[in-house]
Amino acid sequence: MTVDALAGAAYIVAALLFILSLAGLSRHESARAGVIYGIAGMTIALVATIALTVAQAWGGAGSTTGLVLLGVAVLVGAAIGLWRARVVQMTGMPELIALLHSFVGLAAVLVGWNGHLAHPVLPAELVGIHNAEVFIGVFIGGVTFTGSIVAYLKLSAKISSRPLMLPGKNVLNVLALAAFLALTVWFVVDQQLWLLIAVTALSFALGWHLVASIGGGDMPVVVSMLNSYSGWAAAAAGFLLNNDLLIVTGALVGSSGAYLSYIMCKAMNRSFLSVIAGGFGIVASASSDEEYGEYREVTADAAAALLAEAKSVVITPGYGMAVAQAQYPVAELVSRLRDRGVEVRFGIHPVAGRLPGHMNVLLAEAKVPYDIVLGMDEINDDLASTSVVLVIGANDTVNPAAAEDPGSPIAGMPVLRVWEAENVIVFKRSMAAGYAGVQNPLFFRANAQMLFGDAKERVEDIIKAL
Ligand code: TAP
Repeated sequence: MTVDALAGAAYIVAALLFILSLAGLSRHESARAGVIYGIAGMTIALVATIALTVAQAWGGAGSTTGLVLLGVAVLVGAAIGLWRARVVQMTGMPELIALLHSFVGLAAVLVGWNGHLAHPVLPAELVGIHNAEVFIGVFIGGVTFTGSIVAYLKLSAKISSRPLMLPGKNVLNVLALAAFLALTVWFVVDQQLWLLIAVTALSFALGWHLVASIGGGDMPVVVSMLNSYSGWAAAAAGFLLNNDLLIVTGALVGSSGAYLSYIMCKAMNRSFLSVIAGGFGIVASASSDEEYGEYREVTADAAAALLAEAKSVVITPGYGMAVAQAQYPVAELVSRLRDRGVEVRFGIHPVAGRLPGHMNVLLAEAKVPYDIVLGMDEINDDLASTSVVLVIGANDTVNPAAAEDPGSPIAGMPVLRVWEAENVIVFKRSMAAGYAGVQNPLFFRANAQMLFGDAKERVEDIIKAL
């Protein structure tokens, strides 16, 4: 059997393992097995690819250059990947993922360019198809590349997360798509280099604009959408490189990413089409320098006294709990209160934190019993009869403006209705806005009090006072 045939078979096994991996990752009981299938699939795919390259270098068809390049790329890539994965904070995962998507996009652009500049002589009837593959691959890759870079910059707060509102932005997007279609037809008929340069520039600009136009509150959907785009970019590269595994894997990532984006849009009451079209149809809201009135401050001692008297307590954690690493003292506070007979539960918003399931992972880490950790829909109706809600480092996910102010950039997004409770204590360091960059009227409500400072220190203060 030739190495080619063996590698082909290995690719099929790897593809099956990737499918098993996705199936495993869809439930948390089987997630660990899913990760192992993924690692096994990727190892088989890498070994098969290296074997193919070695065979080509020794068989004389290629030169040893390919082998050396492959070796260097694998070593450098693996070293950087291992280092980043070890040092990254849980709160930094989304921006790391966004950055990794940008590499897939860039790789697809380079494969496309290479496919144009250095392809073998093709039979006349295949030239048109090849040209279309090059063009589409470069376009999807380019959009993914710059879109992911903007997502990375926004998520890591290197640029503002406010949506960019260019005049006529929807028309610009539609024009860019029309130009892409026209250029593709032109390139299929007549493969001129300047057309490829033009589509590369166009895709870079469109990717940048699409993601820049989306507001902070919709970023989780954007990251999963870029994940999907990176899959399609990989599949396009697979067609050009004649690599079945890339096509299958790319299609898996592309379709599962698209489906995840769709589920997230439904959960957040957003229009899927509007988000993938760069905030299509979203109008700029008037900048609000609205007067909210006075807010009240509370001390840790007074908060402890309130908690000691409470019948029921609901804790709604958010990104700030992750930043402060406050989950351990929070778990201790919960067990103290439960020992005193107070009913304590958690209310978890689907996008609390910076990645899906962020809060659940932190609470599980601190060994909070799983049966008191409820989802937003499970707890929302009980909030009105709750004595005290502790909002620990959450902001957008408890913002009443989403429910009450149709002009708000997060209008329509489902939120935890914490303001209906008897008392609300908000743990944060300042009056600064949350991730979506909008002020939160909750802080100024009569039943709300602010407990300023680092969430971990303040929770520890409350435990001491109790
Ligand atoms: P945010 O709206 O980002 O609010 C977090 C709050 O924590 C901030 O107001 C901040 O206020 C406070 N904080 C930060 N560090 C703190 C510390 N050490 N101690 C105490 N408080 C601290 O968080 P959220 O309510 O969890 O909402 C999540 C947001 O992120 C949503 O807009 C969501 O769309 C977006 N997002 C989510 C995801 C996913 S998939 N979950 C991914 C990307 C983006 P101070 O600065 O005043 O302390």
